[in-house]
Amino acid sequence: MARFIDELKRTHSCGELREDHIGEECVLFGWVQNRRDHGGCIFIDLRDRDGLTQVIFDPETTAKEAFETADRARSEWVLGIRGTIRDRGTKDDGTSLRNPRLATGAIEVIAAEATVFNKADTPPFEIEDDISTHEDKRLEFRYLDLRRAPLQKNLMMRSHLNHETRNYFQGQGFLEVETPFMVRYTPGGARNFLVPSRLYGGHFYALAESPQLYKQLLMVAGYDKYYQLVRCFRDEDLRIDRQPEFTQIDVEMSFINQDDLFRVIEGLIFRLWKEVLGVDLETLYPERSFPRLPFDQSMERFGNDKPDMRFSMEHVDLTDLTVEHGGGGIGMLEPIAKKFADGVYRRDLPTEIVKALVVPAGHGFSRKDLDALEKFVGQMGAKGLARAKVDAGGNWLQSPLAKMVTPEFRKAVNEAVAAKDGDLILFQFGPTPKVHTVMANLRLHVARKLGLIPETGSGGEWNFLWVVDPPLFERNEEKKRWDAAHHVFTRPHDECIELLERDPGKVLCYRYDLVLNGFEIAGGSIRLHDPEVQKKVFEVIGLGDEEAREQFGFLLDALNYGAPPHGGIAFGMDRIAMLAAETESIRDVIAFPKTQRANDLMTRAPSRVEPEQLLELKIKTLE
Ligand code: AMO
Repeated sequence: MARFIDELKRTHSCGELREDHIGEECVLFGWVQNRRDHGGCIFIDLRDRDGLTQVIFDPETTAKEAFETADRARSEWVLGIRGTIRDRGTKDDGTSLRNPRLATGAIEVIAAEATVFNKADTPPFEIEDDISTHEDKRLEFRYLDLRRAPLQKNLMMRSHLNHETRNYFQGQGFLEVETPFMVRYTPGGARNFLVPSRLYGGHFYALAESPQLYKQLLMVAGYDKYYQLVRCFRDEDLRIDRQPEFTQIDVEMSFINQDDLFRVIEGLIFRLWKEVLGVDLETLYPERSFPRLPFDQSMERFGNDKPDMRFSMEHVDLTDLTVEHGGGGIGMLEPIAKKFADGVYRRDLPTEIVKALVVPAGHGFSRKDLDALEKFVGQMGAKGLARAKVDAGGNWLQSPLAKMVTPEFRKAVNEAVAAKDGDLILFQFGPTPKVHTVMANLRLHVARKLGLIPETGSGGEWNFLWVVDPPLFERNEEKKRWDAAHHVFTRPHDECIELLERDPGKVLCYRYDLVLNGFEIAGGSIRLHDPEVQKKVFEVIGLGDEEAREQFGFLLDALNYGAPPHGGIAFGMDRIAMLAAETESIRDVIAFPKTQRANDLMTRAPSRVEPEQLLELKIKTLE
């Protein structure tokens, strides 16, 4: 029988001991954070995921065997110790030896007995809070990286988020129901990962990109108030806030409208922030609800549907003004103005647009900075970044436009953007989607440069926003048709139903996104459960009966068997955790993430498989 573990059980974690424990005995298990030899005594900081405790091996009092163990021990060895907790005491001059920066800094443990459970090779990087090791190396040795306190803190916080989420929904009478990962492939939406079927050669399952269809079927089945913490799979291009497998808090409810659903979700956020982050959102949102911004305003003022509203610097749409002034003397704007004037372009279709944003005086941008901004927008495909510095008389300085612009147009633009002495106006014009993207990114980039928002993290501000009422369809100019802008089962506003045939572009719908500090953390919709309206929607997007049956057969059938009105939403749990932990990347809140190139550097996935396996699956690969 082994002395440690069998006889001597762990009494405390390495982060638990405080002043109150002084005089008690303890048994601790953990890893050697570091070992120092101080004039005969050996000091070992023993670490587990709860913290660090200083353990002292004194040749005068510690048993010889234990002292020798400490003498041999090296970083990351796994030890067990028994000892007595004592005050860190004072130096000869009376100053305290306590370490106020450490939670266990009041005490130390004087060892009596020790054992080595295991030795360790020298790790490829230090197990310290701040290291400059390249992320690829850290991901290759993720199990060592995960020993570091910042990652441990993130994952513990995430566990707490999960726990509070379950508590909340349980308390609200929700059911947690699991749904399949291996599902039938349906076109549209994100690109799916495919899983070959061995039993049916040439047939594939898809990994579910979300439980969307199943949760709607659960509503039809009468399982009102569903939720699930669920893994989803999408073969998308990755970004700092995207992973190929990620976790949703998925929710669906029956007999509710948008307001009812928002109340439930706001309640969840208030709870998570309070219990996990200790932040009382009620001081920011006394009504216990988040502001709502219509989608079209969001596009107009910020260029995207997930605006960071911690700062203003809004976009100003100058298209109408440009048309009114026939381009205002600026050669590059004249063709756009003419196309609108001639009726070739319509304002309600995504054609071309002219936008500006004002960088307030005092920005301190040098010529070099401005060239760098131009380069920044160039990377997004912008042809350039027209700009003008405004003086007290409203003149445009340091601007290639200054020589061309008519005084009337200049004055009108200055007024429209409310430019003051010293302000800098930045312009973009061209195809609407591109101008929106460039200007949205430019706004964020400039705000970071000016220190209006930090590079990462909240800066202590939690800006929540619902973006609501987007159009149901989007124009596909290339194919000259209307596409569904979202899930095809999104419910149009009742008052828009008569527009379905007449003017589909104007049909708004009950689709909503929840945005936090410029990140989309959740999205959902009230669903279309009325077969009559659904038929009309399918007609607009040119989806014939047969095609609809092929794609959504079982859902269409189910909706005909007494579907209740229903709606739902899904949160990106990884994104919430990333924002709550104020980390730079979603990878910092996932134990075993993939790289930006969708690799697992530790297990080396994806990998090739044996030819026999492929044969069994009836799959031939193209080299
Ligand atoms: P949606 O596609 O908007 O909606 O996804 C919901 C939320 O999931 C998060 N998310 C991601 N997080 C990390 N990596 C990804 N690749 C990724 N993709 C999405 C986002 C997003 O807001 N079934 C619908 C929901 C519904 O209508 O009820 C859905 O999946 O935070």
